[in-house]
Amino acid sequence: MNAFDLKGKTVLVTGASSGLGRQTAITASEYGAFVIITGRNVTRLEETYKSLIGKGHLQIPADLTVQADIEMLVDRLPVLDGLVHSTGISELSPAKFINADAISRTFSISFNASVLLTTAILSKRKLAKGNSSIVFISSISTMYPFVGGSMYVSAKASLEAYSRVLALELASRGTRVNCVAPAFVRTPMLDETAENFSREVVDKIEQRQILGLGDPVDVANPIIFYLSDASKWVTGTKLVLGGC
Ligand SMILES: NC(=O)c1ccc[n+]([C@@H]2O[C@H](COP(=O)([O-])OP(=O)(O)OC[C@H]3O[C@@H](n4cnc5c(N)ncnc54)[C@H](OP(=O)(O)O)[C@@H]3O)[C@@H](O)[C@H]2O)c1
Repeated sequence: MNAFDLKGKTVLVTGASSGLGRQTAITASEYGAFVIITGRNVTRLEETYKSLIGKGHLQIPADLTVQADIEMLVDRLPVLDGLVHSTGISELSPAKFINADAISRTFSISFNASVLLTTAILSKRKLAKGNSSIVFISSISTMYPFVGGSMYVSAKASLEAYSRVLALELASRGTRVNCVAPAFVRTPMLDETAENFSREVVDKIEQRQILGLGDPVDVANPIIFYLSDASKWVTGTKLVLGGC
C-alpha cells in the first residue's frame, strides 16, 4: 500500500462547506478515506457531499460555537483516524477598535471551537489510539502579520501553541498533532478580504507571495500527508505553505 493512501481511514473535516475544508474533504475521499463533513450551511455542505468520491460518507451540519452542537456531532461520529480543523473567520479591524465582542467573535470559532471539539472527541473516545492524526489550519500570518489582523493572528498563534501541547500530551496514545500554515489561498475568505479592503490589496498580497496565490488543493495535499501513514514519525510541527 502507498504510504499516502487513506484507504480504511475515517476522517472528520470541519469547515467542509467551503474553501480549504471542502477541498480537503474531496481530496481525502480521492485518497480513499471515509469522510465525515461538517459546517453550518446545509446547502453548501450538500454541495461538498455530492463532490466526494466513493460511497458511505456522512454529512452532519453543526454550529461549532454551540456546545450542544459539538456534543450532537461527536455523539454521531464513528471512531476517527483523522481530524482536520478548518473552521475560521477573518474579521479584520484596527487594534484600537477591538472590544470584548470582537475578541469573542473571532476566538469562539477560530480557537475555542477547535479546542472544545477536540476535548469532546477525546473524552468520548472517538479518536483511534495508535496511528491517528489531528491537523489544524493556522496561517502564515503568525510569522508575517498584517495590519488589522490582531484577533485573527492572535487566534491562529493560540491554535499553534495549543497544537504543540496537544502533540506532547497525545504522543503516548499514538496520535500525531500538526499544523499547516498557508499563505493566501483563493477561497471565499480571500474574496472577503478583497471586500473588506480592496482588490488592489489582494493584488499586492499576490505579488508579495513568492509562489503567488495558492489554490485549495495546494493546502489539501499537505494535509493528506499529515493524515496518512507517510507522516507517522511527524508530530508537533508546522508546515508553512506558499513561501516565506
Ligand atoms: N483562504 C486563505 O487564504 C487562508 C490562508 C491561511 C489560513 N486559512 C485558514 O483556513 C481555514 C479555512 O479557511 P477558508 O479560506 O476555507 O475559509 P472559508 O471558505 O470562509 O470557510 C470557513 C469555514 O468555516 C466554517 N464556519 C464558520 N463559522 C462556523 C461555525 N460557527 N460553526 C461551524 N463552522 C463554521 C464555514 O462553514 P459555514 O459557512 O457553513 O458556517 C466554512 O466552511 C480558516 O481557519 C482560515 O483562517 C485560510
